[in-house]
Amino acid sequence: MERSSSVVKLAASLVCLIMVKLAPWMASAALVQRKFTIGTQNETRLCSTQTIVTVNGQFPGPTIEVREGDNLVVEVHNNGPYNVTIHWHGVKQLKSCWAEGPAYITQCHITPENKFTYNFIITGQEGTLWWHAHISYLRATVHGALVIKPRAGKTYPYPKPDAEFPIILGEWWNANVEDVIAEAIATGERPPESDADTINSQPGDFFPCSKNDTSRISVASGKSYLLRIVNAAMNHASFFKIAQHNMTVVAVDAVYTKPYTTDVLLIQPGNTMDVLITADQQPGRYYIGTRVYESATVGVKFSEIPATAILEYKGNTNASEPLLPNFPPFNDTASAFKFSAALRSRTPCVAQTVDEEMFITEGAGLVDCTARSCPESGVRSVGSFNNISFVDSQISILQAYYNGTDGVFTRDFPNIPPQKFNYTGYVPHALRYPELGTKVKVLKFNSTVQVVFQNTNISAMINHPIHLHGHDFYLVGQGFGNYNPQTANFNLDNPQMLNTVGVPTGGWAAIRFVANNPGVWFVHCHFESHSAFGFAMAFLTENGPADSDKLPAPPSDLPKC
Ligand code: C2O
Repeated sequence: MERSSSVVKLAASLVCLIMVKLAPWMASAALVQRKFTIGTQNETRLCSTQTIVTVNGQFPGPTIEVREGDNLVVEVHNNGPYNVTIHWHGVKQLKSCWAEGPAYITQCHITPENKFTYNFIITGQEGTLWWHAHISYLRATVHGALVIKPRAGKTYPYPKPDAEFPIILGEWWNANVEDVIAEAIATGERPPESDADTINSQPGDFFPCSKNDTSRISVASGKSYLLRIVNAAMNHASFFKIAQHNMTVVAVDAVYTKPYTTDVLLIQPGNTMDVLITADQQPGRYYIGTRVYESATVGVKFSEIPATAILEYKGNTNASEPLLPNFPPFNDTASAFKFSAALRSRTPCVAQTVDEEMFITEGAGLVDCTARSCPESGVRSVGSFNNISFVDSQISILQAYYNGTDGVFTRDFPNIPPQKFNYTGYVPHALRYPELGTKVKVLKFNSTVQVVFQNTNISAMINHPIHLHGHDFYLVGQGFGNYNPQTANFNLDNPQMLNTVGVPTGGWAAIRFVANNPGVWFVHCHFESHSAFGFAMAFLTENGPADSDKLPAPPSDLPKC
């Protein structure tokens, strides 16, 4: 019994090896060129008109469609009033870390009236990813889908749908989002929640002044459809349902899954999901709806009203009122966990041993007012990993590393928190006051890394969507309470691969990835209000020994700070 399972494991790792080794040999399939012009325009939602920042005058921004293996070149012209960068969320960026996009991590911002060209090859990923601004709060309106189809001659590993639709979940503020975050940073108070969730930028029928613009998806009886869902919301994880229709998940974060059929999805901000549906119900109209999953153990004010779109059977556009799905309660952690625990990769390839083990506590914290301005309470709240709250540098960490510039960052991000405590119980006073710093963890090229993220009760426990830039990782374990290596259940056979994981509220999640890509890779909570308050760290992966394992020189138009 034992022997046969180790034979299976050996065979599986050989297949993994062959797959990984083959990918770089395949030539790039095509050159796909796009131009993004960043500008401003007035948009009205909830009876409130705001000047928002957009790409090519579109909100949500343009969908880019490529095939796996293509070389994507996007020339970004900043004709707007703010500094900007564009991040390609989930793209592995093999040896193209310069094109990754997070401000002050891999590049300096593009100032108004300037441009920068993002140039990279999309290898070994199929499904849906997305792009978004990666500076201040601009991603609220500067985002769009990145659809990666199989290369010519290859097909989906599931029945071909009759049509495909992008579905982008977002949030709307009756305010200028740049003012919202600037005010929060100036005062140290948490920024206010949005006024509505949105689907394809529309809040839908249950919000004022919205009914005429509700997004509609037109389907024909008996046909099947692929929904490419992107959760671009700023601070919300969301339940997603379609009245009376099941959904079959076939890919998450541009990684194929074993088909999983369900009537409810839980999508963390940052995650993308490809789901198949069949128009197999009584011809009519049905609401597609999304509602917040809010797990915080302290009160957060948010809108409980679902954002909606309408699934409309052809020939039934004026039929009676659409049916609304029943949503789980907003704090239904059991449903959220059940969904994320059910996902399985279609062709997993998990490293069975690890070179580098980290245990990272995640939580909020307070800093006193000597370093930064404060609200009247006299302390400001921050986010932290291992009790270090991340501070943006003035020039990008990658540029500083490449040029050998001292004093921009330090290499002492620790593998464990400063002390052990009952993470999900009482938190010692000293641990509520994290240190400020721009610290990275250095990784050896090709090392296998395991990180256990432990949610803590510093200020409050809440589900945090943790995103690792430039890599997919396997979610090898998760659970509630304090992580205990003796009792924790790991799945090293067929876990799901992701680029963003919801660490359960009052719980932990363990991930494994291979540091096979030289560069600086941001890790942060994809709740933008958390990330903006220092809920972040970065990995610095060193060059490998071969010339082909080294980060190339930066592009000549890389913005200067
Ligand atoms: Cu989609 Cu650093 O983020």
